[in-house]
Amino acid sequence: MIEKENLPRHIAVIMDGNGRWAKARGLPRTAGHRAGMDKVKEIVKACGEMDIKVLTLFAFSTENWSRPKKEIDTLMRYFIDSLKRQVDELHKNNVRFRVIGRKEPLPEYLFTKIREAEEKTSGNSGLTLVLALNYGSRQEIVDGVKQFARDVLQRNAALDGMDEEKFGAYLYTAGLPDPDLLIRTSGEMRISNFLLWQASYAELYFSDKCWPDFKKQDLQDAIQEYQHRHRRFGKVKHEKR
Ligand code: FPP
Repeated sequence: MIEKENLPRHIAVIMDGNGRWAKARGLPRTAGHRAGMDKVKEIVKACGEMDIKVLTLFAFSTENWSRPKKEIDTLMRYFIDSLKRQVDELHKNNVRFRVIGRKEPLPEYLFTKIREAEEKTSGNSGLTLVLALNYGSRQEIVDGVKQFARDVLQRNAALDGMDEEKFGAYLYTAGLPDPDLLIRTSGEMRISNFLLWQASYAELYFSDKCWPDFKKQDLQDAIQEYQHRHRRFGKVKHEKR
C-alpha cells in the first residue's frame, strides 16, 4: 500500500535498457526506443493519477550524440512525433511540460515544438513533466557558474551573497523541487551525469527491468520502497528539513 501523505514530490528516472530490450527480441535498437516511448505515456499517466508533483525523464544525454547517426535521427523524429501527438493530451490532463538541457545542437524544428508545448501547458497545475533532452549535469553546473559570473561582473549579483539555495536558481531546474526518488532501470547502478546537484539527497532505486518492461506496478514498488526508507539528510534522526 502507498501512503498518500508520504509521496515523493519529485521522481526522476533514467530510462535505460531500450537497446538491450530490443536486442533480446531480435529487433533493431530503434524498436526499443519506440517501446520506451509507449512506456513514457504509461508512467506519466500513473504519476498524474498518484498525484506526484514532478516527473523528470532522462531522454537524451549530451553523451548520446556519439551514437550512430541513424539512431540519433530516429530518436529526434520520435521526440518530434510524440510532442506533436501528445501535447493536446498532456494539456487536457493538466500536465505542465518543460524541457531541460542545452538547445544546441537540437534540430530547430524540435526546439520550436518544445517551446510551443511549454507555452501551451505553462498555466497547468497538475503534474510537471520535465524532459531532460541534450542534458548533462556537469554542463548545467558550468552554465550556471558562467551565468553567475556574468551577473557578478554586471553587478546584478554579489559574490558573497551566493549560497546553495541561490545557486539552484542558476540551474536548468530553477523553480523545481529537488528529486526525492531517483530510479534507474536495466540493472545499471550509475547516475551518469544526471541531476548531480539536485539529487544530493535523493533516494536511489535500481530496477533490473529494461525501461520498456517497467510497469506502473514497478513504479509503485519503487515508491513503496522509498516510503520505507529513513531520510536523514545528514542528521542523526528522522526530522523534516
Ligand atoms: C536508454 O536506452 C534510452 C535512451 C538513450 C533514449 C530514451 C528515449 C526514450 C525512452 C524514448 C522517449 C521518448 C519520449 C518522447 C520521451 P539505451 O538505448 O541506452 O539502451 P541500452 O543501454 O540497452 O543500449
